[in-house]
Amino acid sequence: MANKLLEVKNLKQYFGSPNNPIKAVDGISFDIYEGETLGLVGESGCGKSTTGRSIIRLYDITDGEILFKGKNIHAGKSRKELKEFNREMQMIFQDPYASLNPRMTAGEAISEGFDIHGLYKDKKERREHIGNLLEAVGLNREHANRYAHEFSGGQRQRIGIARALSLNPSFIIADEPISALDVSIQAQVVNLLKRIQKERNLTYLFIAHDLSMVKYISDRIAVMYRGKIVELGESDEIYNNPIHPYTKSLLSAVPLPDPLTERVRERIPYVHEETDESAKLHEVLPKHFVYGTESQMNKWNKRR
Ligand SMILES: Nc1ncnc2c1ncn2[C@@H]1O[C@H](COP(=O)(O)OP(=O)(O)O)[C@@H](O)[C@H]1O
Ligand SMILES: [Mg+2]
Repeated sequence: MANKLLEVKNLKQYFGSPNNPIKAVDGISFDIYEGETLGLVGESGCGKSTTGRSIIRLYDITDGEILFKGKNIHAGKSRKELKEFNREMQMIFQDPYASLNPRMTAGEAISEGFDIHGLYKDKKERREHIGNLLEAVGLNREHANRYAHEFSGGQRQRIGIARALSLNPSFIIADEPISALDVSIQAQVVNLLKRIQKERNLTYLFIAHDLSMVKYISDRIAVMYRGKIVELGESDEIYNNPIHPYTKSLLSAVPLPDPLTERVRERIPYVHEETDESAKLHEVLPKHFVYGTESQMNKWNKRR
């Protein structure tokens, strides 16, 4: 069994006034093991990005605990420790147009982090490292001197990936990294992420709003709905044996894999199910968790 790289315990992230909070993330718990990809799926607004941003310390969290390599990342840390967290955890963003400064060359974008972390004092070594990163993501060394606007969307996302890799992180949060790209190049970028993961022994949190690509890249999947994780389990299990009605609804919209019959099926609508204080994650099968009350578990288990 691999080690836990990240442990998220009862994480809450509320926005707005304390009297009328927006509960963007409302008490979620999960672990991510070294070397695995955990997919986080759910429709727009359910709290996926907020989860990612809380993990990467862009927010002070409302409640809960996040441990990285066993250390609480939000509890008082020395500058040195914070710098190390910042190096180890990187994020790849959805929009490769908005996330790259158009006045920077690809080389500058990729090397921005080098100085802060005092890597590569010497110019030659630096250029060498930029070139290696460009090649690692399927671009050419010569691309270093070109500006962001000279690249296509797919190439920009590759630069975003090179930038995320530049400090040799161990953990990457990819927040809908292919949603803004042409369908024709989505698979290329996903395959690149998979290859890099193997080569560099990376751990991923892969965020997406639909299940089709997530199933392909993830070892396990967490389904999020209104700030909560409603189902969590191994990818095949979630795909073949969904139990929560929200997961069933999400899956019903995934195109069939056979290209001859490929069509978007009519989505099974999800009718919101009220829960009460007793709702929690139940391990309904080994390593397969479903959120709800006892009576919901009985009802949903019977329907299978
Ligand atoms: N900085 C913020 N201030 C206030 N509300 C926010 C902020 N960020 C996100 N939200 C709200 O929190 C909820 C979850 O947002 P988000 O995490 O971006 O969802 P997702 O990434 O799943 O689309 C939404 O209702 C969103 O409007
Ligand atoms: Mg988002």
